[in-house]
Amino acid sequence: MTPTATAGLTTTKASFIELAQADGQVFIRQPYELYSEENHETWRQLYARIRPRWEKYANRRFLEGIEQLAMDPQNVPRLEDINRFLAPLSGFTAQAVSGYVPAYVFFDCLRQRSFPTTITIRDGGTLDYLPEPDIFHDVAGHVPMHTDRVFADVLVRFGEVARHAAELAREIPDEDERLRRVESNIKALARFFWFTVEFGLLRQGRELKAYGSGLLSSFGELAHCLESPDVQRFPFRLEWVINQYFEIDHYQPLLFIVDSFDHLFEQVDELERWMQAGRLNNVSPGEPKVDEADLRSFLDAGSSR
Ligand SMILES: [Fe+2]
Repeated sequence: MTPTATAGLTTTKASFIELAQADGQVFIRQPYELYSEENHETWRQLYARIRPRWEKYANRRFLEGIEQLAMDPQNVPRLEDINRFLAPLSGFTAQAVSGYVPAYVFFDCLRQRSFPTTITIRDGGTLDYLPEPDIFHDVAGHVPMHTDRVFADVLVRFGEVARHAAELAREIPDEDERLRRVESNIKALARFFWFTVEFGLLRQGRELKAYGSGLLSSFGELAHCLESPDVQRFPFRLEWVINQYFEIDHYQPLLFIVDSFDHLFEQVDELERWMQAGRLNNVSPGEPKVDEADLRSFLDAGSSR
């Protein structure tokens, strides 16, 4: 008998997800009927709690994006509803995934204006901290930013840089050297993504605002990142960002500020020039760890073209 999924799409407790993963499925449908009342209640609480902090700390385009997407404060959103509003604005869509997506595959989805989106939601008992992404992080934290055309183009451009990294790898004849360089390039790309798309700050007039999704989806860190004297906030500098290790299990002590999304776009261009010139081949060691699947995803992409 084929096993069937039981109700509930709670992080680490969703049998639908376990079955999809066991079956090797990465891209899946969002089985909306499986969300439990507790799942919707968790969404409701997360949304109601953070909303006043968005008003205070989120960048203007994020707030407009929330409105443009007609995000439902009461229920876990249906991705097809979100996409109906999102696609005409920037060409992006949110695409349900069963969990972890290897780095190259993830970045290549961005290049094609598709955002791999987690559909499970955290347990209602752990509203504050969650090591893995959930639908609140992905849909309430990331997706509103995708309504902005320039920001959306940044993601696409970033995906192109990842593809370029895979192509450059193919040209290195020595296998050990190829692995070493690809690992360093992935580390640089991951750090860039972390300090911008996930944890970036934006200058907005005379104020600083959050645009990184890790900040925008965290009730505690959203205030901390802009209010705490313990956080170092520096103008974006590419040479720092690509060499700066980060840890994911506590509030970030160091954040970087961009002047605009056009400025951010220019930095992705610069990242590609640096990569082309070999300047990402020896970035400083340390986090993030590049695992086998991430490495493989880049090497496979480079060899199949
Ligand atoms: Fe994220």
